[in-house]
Amino acid sequence: MRTKIVAGNWKMHKNAEETEDLLNDLIAAVPQDKEVQIIVAPTFVNLAAAVEHLEFTNIYVAAQNMHQAEGGAFTGEISADMLKSIGVKTVILGHSERRAYFNETDSIIASKVATALKHDMTVIFCFGEELKDRQSNNHFNIVEQQLLDGIFFTEAAHWENIVLAYEPVWAIGTGETASPEQAQEMHEFIRETVRKKYGSQVADSVRILYGGSVKPENAAEIFAKPDVDGGLIGGASLKAADFAAIINGA
Ligand code: G3P
Repeated sequence: MRTKIVAGNWKMHKNAEETEDLLNDLIAAVPQDKEVQIIVAPTFVNLAAAVEHLEFTNIYVAAQNMHQAEGGAFTGEISADMLKSIGVKTVILGHSERRAYFNETDSIIASKVATALKHDMTVIFCFGEELKDRQSNNHFNIVEQQLLDGIFFTEAAHWENIVLAYEPVWAIGTGETASPEQAQEMHEFIRETVRKKYGSQVADSVRILYGGSVKPENAAEIFAKPDVDGGLIGGASLKAADFAAIINGA
């Protein structure tokens, strides 16, 4: 039985004061007794405060990104060691916005994954097709290529620290959520692709999250699908009541 995960990717939202307010609202709103792993991913400047604020709660903290180098002349970047030093042990990598706006290739993302795993971090690996790929019925090939080039270099032993997040780009921030059937179809394909490469122990234990316009009104039906193990939530994670409602749907 896989423990579901509901993770909130705050993206570039919430300053220090707004972060404290949202964290206080989340602590009050999220269920305490539900068998769901709850994660929030504030921006870099708010991570240390979030870790301290959430220390005695059931909410964990993740970073939205990190650099692949151990350190050096990379102005503006953050290393795995720096994240670990403030108590952040989970990092989102390969998000479509990093791929699109910051030119992160599968190779760059694979380097980041390797560095994060080397530091014993948990990686939430994001991938997903664009609308043109789905319209041309090429979405399965695209997803398989992203897995092969972005994370399938890893050893089976690493997969206890890997969470997959399928985020069809056409559903991110658009309100165009994948249907529960579309999500299940792709998640099943992803799990079988993992099984072919790593075998059933890894395939049956890896969590595969869905991301892309998850809202309180659609979360439960998507999360109820057998190969959907929770969600990676953007906009709805910025409102405590909505994020709590999505968690309750898991
Ligand atoms: O990483 C999660 C994000 O890309 C989904 O965004 O706003 O469609 O829930 P949103």
